[in-house]
Amino acid sequence: MDRTQETIETLRKYKQEHIIRFLEKLNKEKQDNLIKQIQGINFEQITELYNNTKQKIQFKESKIEPLSYLDKSKLTKNQKEQFDKLGEETIKAEEYAVVTMAGGQGTRLGHKGPKGTFKLDVYGKGKFLFEILADNLKEANKKFGVTIPWYIMTSKENNAETIDFLEKNNYFGYDKNLVTIFTQSELPLVDEQGKLLISKDFRIKQASDGNGGTYSSLRASGCLADMKKRGIKWIFIGSVDNVLLKMVDITLLGMAKSKNVQIASKSVAKANPYEKVGVFCKINGHPKVIEYTELPTSMAEQRDKNGELKYGESHIMCNLYTIEALEKISKEPLIYHSAHKKNSYLDEDGKEIIPEEPNSYKFEAFIFDAFEFFDDIAILRGTREDDFAPVKNKDGVDSPKTAKELYEKFWNRQV
Ligand code: UD1
Repeated sequence: MDRTQETIETLRKYKQEHIIRFLEKLNKEKQDNLIKQIQGINFEQITELYNNTKQKIQFKESKIEPLSYLDKSKLTKNQKEQFDKLGEETIKAEEYAVVTMAGGQGTRLGHKGPKGTFKLDVYGKGKFLFEILADNLKEANKKFGVTIPWYIMTSKENNAETIDFLEKNNYFGYDKNLVTIFTQSELPLVDEQGKLLISKDFRIKQASDGNGGTYSSLRASGCLADMKKRGIKWIFIGSVDNVLLKMVDITLLGMAKSKNVQIASKSVAKANPYEKVGVFCKINGHPKVIEYTELPTSMAEQRDKNGELKYGESHIMCNLYTIEALEKISKEPLIYHSAHKKNSYLDEDGKEIIPEEPNSYKFEAFIFDAFEFFDDIAILRGTREDDFAPVKNKDGVDSPKTAKELYEKFWNRQV
């Protein structure tokens, strides 16, 4: 059987006949291109992911409990000094690296282009999100007399634009030799009947596989090997969109070392039961984050005897790992969650269809699902004013307006 026939058989087997009809209308070059792409698709996986969209998430059989944490503002002077000393040692020994996840689409913000290229209107002249991150790292470098290796994850969609932007801005003064850009992987999108979508460039439409893709992409890109070569022992992984993100927190690092854990995370108290953040908990004895899209309202509203939210520690994408932890996670498959989204596509006749309602599923792995591979996690509760000012939405909560206010207030307190 030749390559084309084989592809047609596969498409038939997985009920993707619309692609066969589409293929027939393409010229030889485009056909070859599409066939090559189709041969790389894992149809068993896509079928399973599509079937899972029909199932509701059930936590019933699991034992769920709140997770304990230490409050940074309530540490004793001794405790804080001990943690800071331990943290500082690792940074000064050049055993620390930072990863920024910048592969997200940023659709909610309505910014055209990679999210890190969004300019926040602060102090009149404005600062790009990438610039804010670079400044945070440069400040730490100055304080500890090192240059921390910085790995930036992009998506296939925004990689070229991100590189172009950083080059044009001279990496905001960061030593270019210590910046590594790597790209995350993608998965196909399917419609509500499980059919693959066709994109404007006559290929199967794919999208980034979620921030949980960071781990395997760190391995596949060679970044993990590079970290090992450099002697890195602890790795911070954070988001691109929190303008108060502290990527080099020696208290968090020292606490993780002192507790002898492999993973650690900074949290803040959840603002209200309905805030769109993941919350920490323990599931069958293992650390876990339940994402806001999957947290049952009854759980979100539960309070403890002091009236505090029982599941009130928010995951703010401020996570820390030992190199051994990353080694392990990067080899393990994570589960995929599905999101119902609007996606344009070409119909069988090549006509572009732009839906007005969600019409398809996107599959994403979540970074925190890897926490369950461990017995323990060290959580340090920070504060919203110091640690969390995300830029997510165009207006209202977590918007450029709220982030600007928090950012300027923070920096005004520092002088
Ligand atoms: C995320 C967290 C949520 C947390 C909140 C805090 C997940 C799944 N959710 O929610 O628990 O409370 O931040 O602000 O982690 N990204 C990629 N590639 C992707 C998808 C995302 O690099 O394929 C990056 C984004 O660029 C961004 C970060 O991951 O830096 C956040 O992702 P996003 O999908 O926007 O998650 P949220 O819904 O904001």
